[in-house]
Amino acid sequence: MKYLIFSLLLLVLSLKGYSKKNDHKYYDEKYRPQYHFTPEKNWMNDPNGLVYYAGEYHLFYQYNPLGKEWGFMHWGHAVSKDLIHWTHLPIAIDPDDNSKDKSHATAWSGSAIVDENNVAGLQQRKKKTLLIFYTSWECGQRLAYSNDKGRTWHKYANNPIIPVAKDDARDPKVFYHRPSRNYVMVLYRKPDNVETLKGTSFYTSKDLIHWELQSHLVGFYECPDLIQLPLEGSKDIQKWVLLNGNGDYKVGEFDGKSFTPETAAKVLDHGKNFYATQTWSNHPQGKVVQLAWMRGGEYPDMPFNGQMTFPCELSLRTTSTGLTLCKNPIDAIASLHLRDKELIKKNKNIIPGIKGNILSGISGDALHVKGKFDPKTSDGFGFIVRNGKKEIGTEIRYDSNKKLLECLGGKALVGTKDGFIQFEILIDRASIELFINNGEVVFSSCFNPAENDDDLTFWTQGGEVLVDQIEAYVLKSAWGDK
Ligand code: FRU
Repeated sequence: MKYLIFSLLLLVLSLKGYSKKNDHKYYDEKYRPQYHFTPEKNWMNDPNGLVYYAGEYHLFYQYNPLGKEWGFMHWGHAVSKDLIHWTHLPIAIDPDDNSKDKSHATAWSGSAIVDENNVAGLQQRKKKTLLIFYTSWECGQRLAYSNDKGRTWHKYANNPIIPVAKDDARDPKVFYHRPSRNYVMVLYRKPDNVETLKGTSFYTSKDLIHWELQSHLVGFYECPDLIQLPLEGSKDIQKWVLLNGNGDYKVGEFDGKSFTPETAAKVLDHGKNFYATQTWSNHPQGKVVQLAWMRGGEYPDMPFNGQMTFPCELSLRTTSTGLTLCKNPIDAIASLHLRDKELIKKNKNIIPGIKGNILSGISGDALHVKGKFDPKTSDGFGFIVRNGKKEIGTEIRYDSNKKLLECLGGKALVGTKDGFIQFEILIDRASIELFINNGEVVFSSCFNPAENDDDLTFWTQGGEVLVDQIEAYVLKSAWGDK
């Protein structure tokens, strides 16, 4: 009898294992992004602690393990070898002082770096120490460290490293500034709690533990980032870019202590869901890769609440609007292309009213499209995404006369270059990201399309448009084996 029960149990367990392997339900819900990062369940906001170490990109994020609304912030954690396929790891940072409060002492946003030269003195064996700088709400700026590639985290014994003051202060981003041989922290701060003084503070440190306030620049808000980029990719001219949490930025100079803007604030992303940007520290090829939270996205009836943008490489170019921060999806997106579901067409004149869709044959809820168009005599042209019989899909519209691009409520002026306008589009189950003219104008927005309405339509109005080239790819899921 015992033997029979045991064998039955084994059978049940193995059948369960079998069905798990073969069902495709993991990350397959109606609004579950197929190649954007989402937690398995519950609330997520800002990306935190983006750092590369020993073959792994780390992504930490603001996470509420208790529910689908903001609060009780912990640091969720995942790692990836390619910034596309992620492995979830246990929560890295818990609230301080065993706080059970919704916001007090909880682990708010911050950054991470590799302590290359063990200046903090926390390294134990061969592996470098990873350091996390975070805000413990109402308890100052704090440090946590890991000596096992980020698998376990310890809070620094003498926290806080920057005590809580009368100021509102949060979201430390730390990096090494080679010319001054200092570590620099940029921190959102509202000195003395005076609203009009809100902005970015710059601190320096030699040992990553003791920090000295050097300057304060009024103007930006939460989640600051400060990055250096070569202009037009040439090593000779390097510029600094200070970013606000919503992606707005100023280009200028940074002397290790203060930032001097050379431009007015410009918009990096014209979409409606782009917030709390951060770039990866220690990128293996020295690239500047950015991630943001798609704030305001909605995921009705989903187990999770929050998604990240697709990781993008930043570059600095001079465009018709002056020094411009450009943003393009990382090349690794091509690794998701389903090779037997691609469409490439060249040199086609599209005439309004003539039936036929140049993109027929391509449909789905996870797509990558690239195209180069001459607006010619058209009044407007564009795409309808997730178009179907049940509902008309979501329009991407370029007004050729006004030179105005619109999608999901976002609007931006964008001209042609040598007569052409370039589009790159990432479509996922709950988002559309547009990259125009090689990332000069970008939109990141969320949407909730009707299920099974999967067509992608190209349209023109009022006159002809020339499709110089169009490529469209169906993407496989980064999460399952479907
Ligand atoms: C930005 C933000 C940060 C803060 C965190 C709290 O979305 O408000 O300033 O650290 O979220 O979750």
